[in-house]
Amino acid sequence: MSKLNCWEFKKCGREVGGSKTAELGVCPTSSDNRLNGVHGGTNAGRACWVMDSTLCDGKIQGGFKEKYKECFNCEFYKLIVQEEASYIQYEFLLKKLHHGKINAADIIIGQPIEWDCFDSNGILLLQKGQIIESMIQLSALLDRGLFYHKKKDEGQSSRPAVARIQSPFDLLNEMQNELAAMFTTVTESTGDNFRDTVLQLCGKIQQACEQDADASIGNIFLNNEYEYTIRHPVNVAIICELIAQKLTWVKDERLQLLAAALTMNIGMLKIQETLHHQKEKKTDEQARLIHEHPERGAKMLSQAGVSNKVWIEGVLYHHEAMDGSGYAAGLSADMIPPCARIISFGDQYCAAVSSRSYRRSLTSQESMRDIYLKAGQKTDKDIANLCVRLLGVYPPGTFVKLANGEIAVVTHRGEKAHAPIARSVVRSNKKDISMKPVQRDCSTEEYAIQGMAYEEQKMTGINPNQLWGYLDT
Ligand SMILES: [Fe+2]
Repeated sequence: MSKLNCWEFKKCGREVGGSKTAELGVCPTSSDNRLNGVHGGTNAGRACWVMDSTLCDGKIQGGFKEKYKECFNCEFYKLIVQEEASYIQYEFLLKKLHHGKINAADIIIGQPIEWDCFDSNGILLLQKGQIIESMIQLSALLDRGLFYHKKKDEGQSSRPAVARIQSPFDLLNEMQNELAAMFTTVTESTGDNFRDTVLQLCGKIQQACEQDADASIGNIFLNNEYEYTIRHPVNVAIICELIAQKLTWVKDERLQLLAAALTMNIGMLKIQETLHHQKEKKTDEQARLIHEHPERGAKMLSQAGVSNKVWIEGVLYHHEAMDGSGYAAGLSADMIPPCARIISFGDQYCAAVSSRSYRRSLTSQESMRDIYLKAGQKTDKDIANLCVRLLGVYPPGTFVKLANGEIAVVTHRGEKAHAPIARSVVRSNKKDISMKPVQRDCSTEEYAIQGMAYEEQKMTGINPNQLWGYLDT
């Protein structure tokens, strides 16, 4: 059953192209795209109670504060609450409407900021023109949540941006925004354009990997801006692209592999985020949904017009194990298609290096060690070996301690697996570097890597564009 927008339920005639627009004007609920897709609606069609200037009972209303009491008694509002298992609280919708989130990539340390910045409660934290002087300062602000106010007619285009060429990080952020918007509209009967949209998004991942493979790997370790449901499949797709390149798969075939990685969990999107943060044992119902998600996902894709074997089989068999103990089909060894073995490896590796609310992320080394222990049983040994050679001991994006006492972020793989190129972000005297991070060649004695920097890996004030040299500063 299709979901009704408010103008279809209320028959007000004020939707874009509606019969009463000449007389009453177009309602912002139907024309403003800031809440597009919320509760499965078109624009704010299923979140009208937070929009200004809607028309109800023959009169144009004011803002949320003036109308919310009436709205919460409205039959349409009650219908949404009843229909939506994942109903979104109005506070969140108002924030989404009136605040734009600022992330690390929007701020250049040492340069005046271009906007007043607020926390999520609207309290002014920084005035336009102030300078953030260190990554530690920026990290603390970002942890609090840093927002700028959006004007009503600005929408997404007003996002603050620094002038630079489009980096792999920008490209991956852009595609993750698009993926997030697409996932809010995914249903059991997803339409034909779903397939083309997914392939376009995969094309952007391939472009990022071709432009700068080191930066794309770095994105896996530094990308904490997005919900797990969004960033995890993108991270897996990056790993898949790089492995498949090494295995000399042709570009079109890799594209289908990436599409499988991006949509592997489409059959359980709603519960995936909950599971990521859940400390308790899974319920029986959750276990059932998990067990069924490969088949449900493949079925949804078939209904959306996907017929490519690599894509379908990649989703269908991504939880099979080499020893036959996986699900849902219980295939083993060579019976598991290569596409599914690559995705399965990427899925396990990226899940391990991602932090969860109840444990820190494992380092790349720890993840590889765990996967190696299971190699041959759960994962394909050859793929695990290839990935170790591909990523090195200290992959780009990981935080390391250097022999001179500095903390640095690895930015490029080196000729030797244990000696990459890094940029120091914390000086040896533990005072934060306030300006440009300095490049360090870890093959030299002075900057040799002494080990991982676990605590610093959680720093949120890292601007990857600055570290990888994509800013002209
Ligand atoms: Fe899965």
